[in-house]
Amino acid sequence: MAIMHSLYREAGTVRVDEAACIQCGQCAEVCAGEVLSLDDGRIVVHADSPFGCIACGHCMMVCPEGAIRVSGRGISPDDLLPAPQSGEKATADALAALMRGRRSVRHFTDQAVDQELLDRVVEMASSAPMGIPPWDVGCVVVRGRKAVRELADQIIEGYEGFLKFFRPWVLTLMRPMMSRAKYEQFRDFIRPLAETYVQHHRAGRDAVFYDAPAVIVFHHSPYTDVPDAMIACTYAMLAAESLGLGTTMIGGAAPIIQRNKALCRKLGVPEGNTPAMALILGYPSVEFQRTIRRRFSSVETFALDSDEKTVVD
Ligand SMILES: Cc1cc2nc3c(=O)[nH]c(=O)nc-3n(C[C@H](O)[C@H](O)[C@H](O)COP(=O)(O)O)c2cc1C
Repeated sequence: MAIMHSLYREAGTVRVDEAACIQCGQCAEVCAGEVLSLDDGRIVVHADSPFGCIACGHCMMVCPEGAIRVSGRGISPDDLLPAPQSGEKATADALAALMRGRRSVRHFTDQAVDQELLDRVVEMASSAPMGIPPWDVGCVVVRGRKAVRELADQIIEGYEGFLKFFRPWVLTLMRPMMSRAKYEQFRDFIRPLAETYVQHHRAGRDAVFYDAPAVIVFHHSPYTDVPDAMIACTYAMLAAESLGLGTTMIGGAAPIIQRNKALCRKLGVPEGNTPAMALILGYPSVEFQRTIRRRFSSVETFALDSDEKTVVD
């Protein structure tokens, strides 16, 4: 058995170097797929486990002797990297400052964003957790204002079609098939937003991507879901922020791109994948002097007294 993936249909392969193994059992302990167990002082590989080896690599990352080799599903021991030293890790304060100080940026200087910097953003974002490995999320880097404008033009065409179809009376007719929240969202947000996009476009302004010098579009395969691409996009946003770039997630782009198969092909989105979120990037031309406290809509705690540890003096 193997968990299906758009590129891989086989399970990973785990090999244990019996001579090097010290039977500490850590690999079996961390294996989430029940592929490894420590039986009678020996690490046993269960080829018949329910999902097979998902090739997360945890066993070879935890092994103190380097006695395990996982290959297949896009990974091999060559992908192992040294664990970051404690001094290399972001402190909670540094991370909190990055997160708190980040603002959505919609105004950019004329400076182009180099491909190397975009590559770095993509590389950093690819460390995001995206469901079950190997990640079935990809991205398209649109670099340069001309290419971004061309993409924006295609999105506006899509919105013009949307406005022709979703006239107010059509929405009223569809009301019984929609939840109240969905209907109100369509009536009070999506339709007016589409109108705004089109009006700005006619006036020569790009209200979709704000004339950003770069956009990254994240897409996911049919074997994964929207959250995986969203998590990747969120990591990319923080990575870009740490590299001095300003960003804004653009939710208005993907619903149009995903319905335009020719555009997906032109962008190099693999057949069957669904664009889920876009991120604009560039050097900010505005500087925020303050940040702001934001809150969840609700935060509740559910705990049982019996879970609390009792401290005995
Ligand atoms: C999923 C998502 C989609 C968004 N889509 C858009 C968008 O299409 N256009 C836009 O201008 N901003 C978009 N934003 C940015 C929000 O409007 C932004 O978070 C808000 O302005 C608050 O600013 P802050 O990020 O600086 O706190 C989006 C944000 C998220 C998280």
